[in-house]
Amino acid sequence: MPGAAMASRRLVFMGPPGAGKGTQAKLVCEKLGIPQVSTGDILRARKAAGTLPAELAKIMASGGLVPDKAVVDLVGERLAEPDCKNGFLLDGFPRTVAQAEALDAMLAAHLQKLEVALVLEVPDSLLIERAVLRRTDKRTGQIYHLKYNPPPPDADLEHRADDHEDVVRKRLAAYAESTAAVIPYYEKQGIVRRVDGTKSMQEVTKAVFAALGV
Ligand code: AP5
Repeated sequence: MPGAAMASRRLVFMGPPGAGKGTQAKLVCEKLGIPQVSTGDILRARKAAGTLPAELAKIMASGGLVPDKAVVDLVGERLAEPDCKNGFLLDGFPRTVAQAEALDAMLAAHLQKLEVALVLEVPDSLLIERAVLRRTDKRTGQIYHLKYNPPPPDADLEHRADDHEDVVRKRLAAYAESTAAVIPYYEKQGIVRRVDGTKSMQEVTKAVFAALGV
């Protein structure tokens, strides 16, 4: 496939809650044949399995950030799995400068570097509605939106516990307080690519693929 060999394969997707990271990450991973490593998905799967410590579940439910060590350990374990050998897309990690530094150190130990930090830019005014009306199919993990991407009638829908407006506002505050600072960290490395995430899903996908050279 001409062009595919040029595409970047060690990627981070950044952007505020509800920006569309998960939606676009799935499409990029399918196209590049790399795994999507979403810290939010891993934490929710552990909660569902009853293996997430109660204090971490409480932090997630309140819209705060789980302590750096817990997520860094989780990502370290996941990136050591064989399917990450030829690339990965980190979705929702890193969320603090300390997490970004830990990731760089992990990769450097294998003589690797991150290639792109893609930032999906969406203003807060659109994010509340995106998160509050999001629904996920429990069986397939497919992400829907009651207004912009309605689910089929047979979907087994789940409304995330942290997608209620008051919690979404706290998540937005956590993003502004801790996660936005990761963008200048990657700007210094010259790997930031920004995409306007306010357009339709299809238009955003086109822009994301172009930004990644896919
Ligand atoms: P996490 O699961 O990572 O949540 P998030 O970053 O808040 O991101 P979301 O999943 O809410 O949004 P998204 O950008 O993926 O948007 P989506 O594609 O679904 O984290 C959850 C919690 O876990 C955190 O609050 C924290 O507690 C903890 N956590 C996780 N990682 C951590 C870390 N590294 N450190 C510390 N704590 C951590 O789209 C949203 C909706 O919009 C959908 O309905 C979709 O259909 C719709 N949509 C998407 N694109 C468009 C479009 N272009 N137009 C219209 N609608 C659209």
